[in-house]
Amino acid sequence: MDWQIKPLDSAGVTRSSLKKYKFESGQSDLDQYLKQYAWKNHEWGVSRVFVAYSLETKTIQGFYTSSMGIISTQSIPDLQENFPTETPAFLVGRLAVDISVQKQGLGKKLLRHAFECAIDISHKIGVWAVYVKAKDESVKKYYQNRGFISLKNKPLVLFLPLQTIRKAMQQNT
Ligand SMILES: CC(C)(COP(=O)(O)OP(=O)(O)OC[C@H]1O[C@@H](n2cnc3c(N)ncnc32)[C@H](O)[C@@H]1OP(=O)(O)O)[C@@H](O)C(=O)NCCC(=O)NCCS
Repeated sequence: MDWQIKPLDSAGVTRSSLKKYKFESGQSDLDQYLKQYAWKNHEWGVSRVFVAYSLETKTIQGFYTSSMGIISTQSIPDLQENFPTETPAFLVGRLAVDISVQKQGLGKKLLRHAFECAIDISHKIGVWAVYVKAKDESVKKYYQNRGFISLKNKPLVLFLPLQTIRKAMQQNT
Protein backbone atom coordinates (compact mmCIF):
# COMPACT_ATOMS: atom_id res chain seq x y z
CA MET A 1 0.00 0.00 0.00
CA ASP A 2 1.23 3.45 -0.85
CA TRP A 3 -0.06 6.55 0.94
CA GLN A 4 0.75 10.20 0.70
CA ILE A 5 0.32 12.15 3.92
CA LYS A 6 -0.84 15.69 3.26
CA PRO A 7 -2.58 18.57 5.04
CA LEU A 8 -6.34 18.24 4.56
CA ASP A 9 -6.57 21.30 2.32
CA SER A 10 -3.96 19.91 -0.10
CA ALA A 11 -5.42 16.45 -0.47
CA GLY A 12 -7.74 17.23 -3.36
CA VAL A 13 -10.96 16.65 -1.42
CA THR A 14 -13.59 19.33 -1.15
CA ARG A 15 -15.49 20.07 2.03
CA SER A 16 -18.75 18.75 0.52
CA SER A 17 -17.19 15.56 -0.84
CA LEU A 18 -15.70 14.87 2.58
CA LYS A 19 -19.16 14.91 4.16
CA LYS A 20 -20.18 11.98 1.95
CA TYR A 21 -17.00 10.05 2.53
CA LYS A 22 -17.13 6.36 3.41
CA PHE A 23 -14.53 6.46 6.13
CA GLU A 24 -14.97 3.92 8.92
CA SER A 25 -12.39 3.39 11.62
CA GLY A 26 -14.59 1.52 14.08
CA GLN A 27 -14.87 4.66 16.23
CA SER A 28 -17.86 6.63 14.94
CA ASP A 29 -16.90 9.86 16.72
CA LEU A 30 -13.59 9.91 14.84
CA ASP A 31 -15.33 9.19 11.52
CA GLN A 32 -17.82 11.95 12.19
CA TYR A 33 -15.02 14.31 13.12
CA LEU A 34 -13.35 13.79 9.74
CA LYS A 35 -16.60 14.30 7.84
CA GLN A 36 -18.11 17.18 9.80
CA TYR A 37 -15.54 19.09 11.82
CA ALA A 38 -12.08 18.50 10.33
CA TRP A 39 -12.32 21.25 7.67
CA LYS A 40 -13.58 23.86 10.13
CA ASN A 41 -10.94 23.07 12.74
CA HIS A 42 -8.21 23.01 10.10
CA GLU A 43 -9.39 26.36 8.67
CA TRP A 44 -9.70 27.98 12.07
CA GLY A 45 -6.22 26.79 12.93
CA VAL A 46 -7.30 25.19 16.19
CA SER A 47 -5.85 21.95 14.92
CA ARG A 48 -4.13 20.79 11.79
CA VAL A 49 -5.54 17.75 10.06
CA PHE A 50 -3.22 15.49 8.08
CA VAL A 51 -4.74 12.82 5.89
CA ALA A 52 -3.31 9.67 4.34
CA TYR A 53 -4.35 9.64 0.72
CA SER A 54 -4.24 6.31 -1.06
CA LEU A 55 -2.75 6.57 -4.54
CA GLU A 56 -4.41 3.27 -5.38
CA THR A 57 -8.02 3.97 -4.35
CA LYS A 58 -7.75 7.77 -4.49
CA THR A 59 -9.44 8.06 -1.12
CA ILE A 60 -8.51 9.14 2.38
CA GLN A 61 -7.71 6.06 4.44
CA GLY A 62 -6.40 7.61 7.62
CA PHE A 63 -5.84 10.88 9.41
CA TYR A 64 -4.47 12.52 12.51
CA THR A 65 -4.85 15.94 14.07
CA SER A 66 -2.18 18.01 15.71
CA SER A 67 -2.25 20.97 18.05
CA MET A 68 -0.21 22.41 20.89
CA GLY A 69 -0.98 21.50 24.47
CA ILE A 70 0.42 21.49 27.95
CA ILE A 71 1.18 18.65 30.34
CA SER A 72 1.23 19.39 34.04
CA THR A 73 4.74 18.50 35.14
CA GLN A 74 3.60 16.86 38.37
CA SER A 75 1.85 14.13 36.34
CA ILE A 76 5.05 13.16 34.51
CA PRO A 77 6.81 10.22 36.16
CA ASP A 78 10.56 10.27 36.87
CA LEU A 79 11.25 13.84 35.89
CA GLN A 80 14.33 15.72 37.00
CA GLU A 81 13.98 18.45 39.63
CA ASN A 82 13.41 22.11 38.84
CA PHE A 83 11.47 21.39 35.68
CA PRO A 84 8.89 24.13 34.88
CA THR A 85 5.45 23.40 36.39
CA GLU A 86 3.90 23.09 32.93
CA THR A 87 5.49 21.36 30.00
CA PRO A 88 4.77 22.25 26.36
CA ALA A 89 3.78 19.26 24.28
CA PHE A 90 2.59 18.40 20.79
CA LEU A 91 -0.85 16.78 20.94
CA VAL A 92 -1.85 14.10 18.45
CA GLY A 93 -5.50 14.66 19.25
CA ARG A 94 -7.07 12.16 16.93
CA LEU A 95 -5.65 9.23 15.01
CA ALA A 96 -7.73 6.91 12.87
CA VAL A 97 -7.29 4.41 10.06
CA ASP A 98 -10.04 2.98 7.87
CA ILE A 99 -10.96 -0.58 8.83
CA SER A 100 -10.20 -1.81 5.29
CA VAL A 101 -6.50 -1.04 5.79
CA GLN A 102 -5.97 -1.40 9.54
CA LYS A 103 -2.95 -3.34 10.75
CA GLN A 104 -1.01 -2.60 7.57
CA GLY A 105 1.27 0.00 9.08
CA LEU A 106 -0.69 3.16 8.29
CA GLY A 107 -1.21 4.11 11.96
CA LYS A 108 2.54 3.81 12.46
CA LYS A 109 3.22 5.89 9.35
CA LEU A 110 0.83 8.64 10.52
CA LEU A 111 2.46 8.68 13.95
CA ARG A 112 5.90 8.94 12.38
CA HIS A 113 4.67 11.89 10.34
CA ALA A 114 3.42 13.53 13.55
CA PHE A 115 6.81 12.91 15.20
CA GLU A 116 8.56 14.58 12.26
CA CYS A 117 6.22 17.59 12.52
CA ALA A 118 6.89 17.84 16.26
CA ILE A 119 10.67 17.75 15.69
CA ASP A 120 10.32 20.32 12.93
CA ILE A 121 8.43 22.85 15.03
CA SER A 122 10.62 22.18 18.08
CA HIS A 123 13.33 24.24 16.36
CA LYS A 124 11.09 27.28 16.63
CA ILE A 125 8.97 26.69 19.74
CA GLY A 126 9.50 24.66 22.90
CA VAL A 127 8.18 21.09 22.54
CA TRP A 128 9.18 18.64 25.24
CA ALA A 129 7.04 15.67 24.22
CA VAL A 130 4.37 14.28 21.93
CA TYR A 131 1.23 13.19 23.76
CA VAL A 132 -1.99 11.34 22.97
CA LYS A 133 -5.30 10.61 24.66
CA ALA A 134 -6.16 6.94 24.27
CA LYS A 135 -9.83 6.07 23.99
CA ASP A 136 -9.58 2.85 25.94
CA GLU A 137 -7.19 0.23 27.33
CA SER A 138 -6.71 -1.47 23.96
CA VAL A 139 -5.63 1.76 22.27
CA LYS A 140 -3.47 2.54 25.29
CA LYS A 141 -1.62 -0.72 24.56
CA TYR A 142 -1.16 0.36 20.96
CA TYR A 143 0.62 3.51 22.13
CA GLN A 144 2.58 1.73 24.87
CA ASN A 145 3.91 -0.66 22.23
CA ARG A 146 5.29 2.41 20.51
CA GLY A 147 7.07 3.59 23.65
CA PHE A 148 4.47 6.01 25.05
CA ILE A 149 4.28 6.31 28.85
CA SER A 150 1.10 6.95 30.87
CA LEU A 151 0.79 10.08 32.99
CA LYS A 152 0.75 9.35 36.73
CA ASN A 153 -2.79 10.53 37.38
CA LYS A 154 -4.31 9.96 33.91
CA PRO A 155 -3.31 6.54 32.59
CA LEU A 156 -5.13 7.03 29.28
CA VAL A 157 -3.06 10.12 28.52
CA LEU A 158 0.36 9.02 27.29
CA PHE A 159 3.48 10.91 26.31
CA LEU A 160 6.76 10.29 24.58
CA PRO A 161 9.64 12.72 25.22
CA LEU A 162 10.90 14.35 22.05
CA GLN A 163 14.44 13.43 23.01
CA THR A 164 13.46 9.74 22.86
CA ILE A 165 11.77 10.27 19.49
CA ARG A 166 14.82 12.06 18.09
CA LYS A 167 17.12 9.23 19.17
CA ALA A 168 14.82 6.58 17.68
CA MET A 169 14.55 8.48 14.40
CA GLN A 170 18.34 8.86 14.18
CA GLN A 171 18.77 5.12 14.71
CA ASN A 172 16.19 4.32 12.01
CA THR A 173 17.75 6.52 9.34
C1 LIG B 1 -5.40 2.45 16.50
C2 LIG B 1 -5.21 2.56 14.99
C3 LIG B 1 -5.01 4.03 14.60
C4 LIG B 1 -3.97 1.75 14.60
O1 LIG B 1 -3.71 1.91 13.23
P1 LIG B 1 -3.28 0.65 12.32
O2 LIG B 1 -2.90 1.19 10.98
O3 LIG B 1 -4.34 -0.36 12.38
O4 LIG B 1 -2.04 0.11 13.13
P2 LIG B 1 -0.57 -0.26 12.58
O5 LIG B 1 -0.69 -1.06 11.33
O6 LIG B 1 0.30 0.93 12.54
O7 LIG B 1 -0.04 -1.14 13.76
C5 LIG B 1 -0.45 -2.44 13.83
C6 LIG B 1 -0.09 -3.02 15.17
O8 LIG B 1 -0.85 -2.38 16.19
C7 LIG B 1 -1.75 -3.31 16.79
N1 LIG B 1 -3.03 -2.63 16.97
C8 LIG B 1 -3.78 -2.03 16.04
N2 LIG B 1 -4.90 -1.51 16.60
C9 LIG B 1 -4.81 -1.78 17.91
C10 LIG B 1 -5.64 -1.50 19.02
N3 LIG B 1 -6.80 -0.86 18.90
N4 LIG B 1 -5.22 -1.91 20.22
C11 LIG B 1 -4.06 -2.57 20.37
N5 LIG B 1 -3.24 -2.87 19.36
C12 LIG B 1 -3.61 -2.48 18.15
C13 LIG B 1 -1.83 -4.45 15.81
O9 LIG B 1 -2.16 -5.64 16.45
C14 LIG B 1 -0.44 -4.48 15.21
O10 LIG B 1 0.47 -5.09 16.09
P3 LIG B 1 1.82 -5.77 15.53
O11 LIG B 1 2.64 -4.66 14.92
O12 LIG B 1 2.44 -6.35 16.76
O13 LIG B 1 1.36 -6.76 14.54
C15 LIG B 1 -6.41 1.95 14.21
O14 LIG B 1 -6.59 0.63 14.62
C16 LIG B 1 -7.71 2.72 14.38
O15 LIG B 1 -7.98 3.66 13.63
N6 LIG B 1 -8.54 2.30 15.36
C17 LIG B 1 -9.84 2.93 15.57
C18 LIG B 1 -9.73 4.37 15.99
C19 LIG B 1 -8.96 4.53 17.27
O16 LIG B 1 -9.21 3.85 18.26
N7 LIG B 1 -8.01 5.49 17.24
C20 LIG B 1 -7.20 5.84 18.40
C21 LIG B 1 -7.74 7.08 18.97
S1 LIG B 1 -7.07 7.42 20.53
